[in-house]
Amino acid sequence: MKSYLMGAVSSVAILVSGAAVAGPEAEVLHWWTSGGEAKSVAVLQEEFAARGGTWTDMPVAGGGGDAAMTALRARVLSGNAPTAVQLKGPAIQEWYEEGVLADISDVAEAQGWADVLPASIAGHMKCEGTWCAAPVNVHRVDWIWANAEVLKANGIEMPTTWDEFNAAAEKLQAAGIIPLAHGGQAWQDATVFEAVALGILGPDGFRKAFVDLDKATLTSDKMVAVFDQMRTMRGFVDSNFSGRDWNLATAMVMNGEAAFQIMGDWAKGEFLAAGKVPGEDFLCLSVPGDGFLYNVDSFAMFDVDGADKIAGQELLAELIVGQNFQKVFNLNKGSIPARTDVSLDDFDSCANLSADDMAASSANGSLLPSYAHGMALRGAQSGAITDVVTAHFNSDMSSADAVKMLADAVANSM
Ligand code: GAL
Repeated sequence: MKSYLMGAVSSVAILVSGAAVAGPEAEVLHWWTSGGEAKSVAVLQEEFAARGGTWTDMPVAGGGGDAAMTALRARVLSGNAPTAVQLKGPAIQEWYEEGVLADISDVAEAQGWADVLPASIAGHMKCEGTWCAAPVNVHRVDWIWANAEVLKANGIEMPTTWDEFNAAAEKLQAAGIIPLAHGGQAWQDATVFEAVALGILGPDGFRKAFVDLDKATLTSDKMVAVFDQMRTMRGFVDSNFSGRDWNLATAMVMNGEAAFQIMGDWAKGEFLAAGKVPGEDFLCLSVPGDGFLYNVDSFAMFDVDGADKIAGQELLAELIVGQNFQKVFNLNKGSIPARTDVSLDDFDSCANLSADDMAASSANGSLLPSYAHGMALRGAQSGAITDVVTAHFNSDMSSADAVKMLADAVANSM
């Protein structure tokens, strides 16, 4: 009896150590390479390693993820998809339709995701009823960040209307301060554009324009006013803005070279990584107008062979939606947890404002997907809009011409 038991115990031990040798593995493609982003993704790497996983990092630098998505296409086309990929919004369903995504429903069901994720977020993670992605966070896009000291020294309050914003910017410019820190990359132009559009069109107008692609809204006088404000903003950036990375623009606000940045709350991750304190060193306020533009980061698993990789995908999915990861990651990243059962007590005032506004927007129908960050539209449509936004921002194109071009570009992308 005793020797039988010992035999059983030792074969279990062999099995366990055999599994540990193979271990969960994951090659993870993501674009989190700035200071705050790298600190955030390290949380996942550490949790994965602590559970015996081997992580192969595949970072593709480039804010907004355009370069990462190009790298992904090349890998999938060559039949060598990464195990896990930072992917979000309708792009998840687009890849699903290509038949290359793994089904992670077993993990989602075992971990009870349906009970802890808001329906609006869960919807983005589903493909024909199965779970095909794991959400990491909720980023808010429509924020204005400011250097507290620069505003104080110039007698300026955080702007609550676009007129106030313009007046503050003119005053700052006269004082020799760059009003708006901006990086001239298409996705950053689009980020500013959608924040302006939300303010000027209002939540219903934003939905009609950038979710429904309603022609009347795309060609409306209000859309002309959106481009007018973009032209005004162009006058508030410095002459070296072309091609600048978003985190370098954030650094300009940090060091007082510039006063404001309009950017999602990954910018807060940069401020925090540099030891800056919200409410003291920097200020956050949503852009003028109602509504909330959300941008949910998530990971999708690609179809791969090998028990070690599949175990890696399952472990990653479990960790990503895990309570501890959702808290620690988001404290670093600047976003708020996707899970509804993570306490925000340790989160700062900007995060708490985001959570309160998200709940209010969800209740009154003004919670909207970010078009600039790939949450609202498929790639062809969002790309068509961004091309026009960038062409307008970087030329002397009139607002009327931009609106006409916008309607044509959207029509041609369908
Ligand atoms: C967004 C992404 C954020 C942040 C940002 C800058 O699209 O959702 O997590 O990384 O790009 O790269």
